[in-house]
Amino acid sequence: MVTLSIIKADTGGFVGHSAVHPDMLAAGQDALSSAVADGLLLDGKVGHCGDDLSLIMTHEHGADAEEVHSFAWDVFLRTTEIAKGLGLYGAGQDLLSDAFSGNLRGMGPGYAELEFTERPSEPVVCFLADKTEPGAWNLPLYKMFADPFNTAGLVIDAKMHAGFRFEVYDLYEEKRIWFDCPRELYEMLMFIGAPARYVIHSVESKTLHEQAVATSTQRLSLIAGKYVGKDDPVMIVRCQSGLPALGEVLEPFSFAYTAGGCMRGSHHAPMMPVSVNDAHPARFDGPPRVVALGFQVHQGKLIGPRDLFDDPSFDRARAQTNEVMDYLRRHGPFEPHRLPLEDLEYTTMADLEKLLADRWQSMPEAAVPAPR
Ligand code: 13P
Ligand code: 13P
Ligand code: MG
Ligand code: MG
Ligand code: MG
Repeated sequence: MVTLSIIKADTGGFVGHSAVHPDMLAAGQDALSSAVADGLLLDGKVGHCGDDLSLIMTHEHGADAEEVHSFAWDVFLRTTEIAKGLGLYGAGQDLLSDAFSGNLRGMGPGYAELEFTERPSEPVVCFLADKTEPGAWNLPLYKMFADPFNTAGLVIDAKMHAGFRFEVYDLYEEKRIWFDCPRELYEMLMFIGAPARYVIHSVESKTLHEQAVATSTQRLSLIAGKYVGKDDPVMIVRCQSGLPALGEVLEPFSFAYTAGGCMRGSHHAPMMPVSVNDAHPARFDGPPRVVALGFQVHQGKLIGPRDLFDDPSFDRARAQTNEVMDYLRRHGPFEPHRLPLEDLEYTTMADLEKLLADRWQSMPEAAVPAPR
């Protein structure tokens, strides 16, 4: 069995919240290469999207392994020091705890981990996003694994015809449920259509009994109890041979769907699929970016990455993103660009309620609806 882990954190932005400094990427790659040389990891590559640094690692320690999580934590401490040394913005932003104990749960860094027996050919895609929340993967995952208008294999591949099982987390109540699709598609959509609360955590093939997907589902604000930056989730998707083909996995991103997270974590904005070189959200700290790094996992090694959205066939999605961004921006501080009050990551409302408490008066009686 091999485990593919993506562990990520924002440990400082260059400039503002737009990118990771090259010195931090170099330090991350050095640490990964040493960990491979020392035998902790089978392989390790740094990735980045916006101001978030990802450690993409293969190893044999399973998910939630103390040695792998504590290694990642130490790397993030080191990149935080580099960020402090350069005066980068929000140095150590996602490190919410002072000391490591056991694993990264509740400590700030996000992680997606998937353990599997390597197939003769094992194509995987590592998706990294910036300026959005973990529920941003719900719509594309639904399309990949449940929508025959996206994924032809659901109709014409005998190994996919039975469908997939989706594991959905309720991040508010800390509960989870499995939906058996296509039988329970409509039930599932009722929940995952509310992505601030319900988040797809994993997907499994009913025919192969193989896990195909792992997502990072941590919500920073729920850990910290206040806004400390956006979650900027990651996701692993395995492809081909009874799972969606590579092109079926990428196809949902040809539509610039809207997700929560841009500018102070408090606005809806469209997701822009981009090459690694363009993964630097700037306009209104957005639009949210997603990169897709393709690898063939072979004998535990990460052959790649291929920068999969570095492809003119996603130009229209990018153009659509810009159009939607223009349209939403013109709403300024109005919904639906601004998130609804209960989902705002920043708010002056509590202060205003206190400040204005004695200025609110009853409406004129004529304006009050008559009791029924
Ligand atoms: P190739 O013939 O290029 O391998 O394509 C196979 C396929 O089914 C792609 O969707
Ligand atoms: P990050 O989570 O990417 O740091 O974004 C924070 C933010 O509020 C940008 O406007
Ligand atoms: Mg940041
Ligand atoms: Mg970020
Ligand atoms: Mg963030």
